[in-house]
Amino acid sequence: MAVIVIAGRKGGIGKSTIAGNLAGEFAAMGQTVAALDADPQHSLAAWAEQGEGILSQCVEKVARGTASALHAKVRAAQDKADTVLVDTPPGIQEITYQAMMVADLVLLPCGPSPLDLFPLKEAMGLALKARAERRSKKPRIRFVPSKVLKNTNLGRGLSSSLEELGKKVLPGIGQRIVLAEAVGSGLTVREFAPGSVAQEEFEELAKAVAKIARR
Ligand SMILES: Nc1ncnc2c1ncn2[C@@H]1O[C@H](COP(=O)(O)OP(=O)(O)OP(=O)(O)O)[C@@H](O)[C@H]1O
Ligand SMILES: [Mg+2]
Repeated sequence: MAVIVIAGRKGGIGKSTIAGNLAGEFAAMGQTVAALDADPQHSLAAWAEQGEGILSQCVEKVARGTASALHAKVRAAQDKADTVLVDTPPGIQEITYQAMMVADLVLLPCGPSPLDLFPLKEAMGLALKARAERRSKKPRIRFVPSKVLKNTNLGRGLSSSLEELGKKVLPGIGQRIVLAEAVGSGLTVREFAPGSVAQEEFEELAKAVAKIARR
């Protein structure tokens, strides 16, 4: 019944891709999953609607509304699912903050450019604010390197830049075209390209996330 929020100020950094593919990996581990699309752009829902895979069964749109409506939606999802993923819009948004207020874990994807670190710090600040308001160790906060160009200096430098920000870094996801192709088919990478490097990266990330979420 863990609630995992994927957030970030920067647009297009891979939040929805991570939300959808983690849903696929958790389902493959035998978990029931609910993936709430709290972004008014509804890209996760649009992805799910392209096909008839696992996302078509587990993605639900969250309508614009109050904090209490969002929290009720999360609670209802927790009643039926082992893991609730919440995809959020880019920017520093009230809905993202409210999702963080009920999250066990916040995942903050970060791209390889040094420019990606500034918006990342702001998103981390939002999660820390939620934690302070809750007077709790939760949400836990982890970075996820995203769209990483492996074997480049930028890619190699990212993990150490992230560690300097003081939060743990989870296994990252490379820049992999198959991830964009899977979206066009309405499928997760596990359904679209099982055994691909991208799918194995998501499997590794999901295992690491599951370990933290259980705590
Ligand atoms: N690791 C990756 N490798 C290649 N393409 C990717 C990867 N992650 C995401 N993409 C592509 O980049 C684009 C943006 O990804 P995505 O929608 O997941 O980002 P986002 O952070 O959710 O964006 P937004 O801020 O608009 O919600 C999409 O076309 C997606 O297919
Ligand atoms: Mg998105």
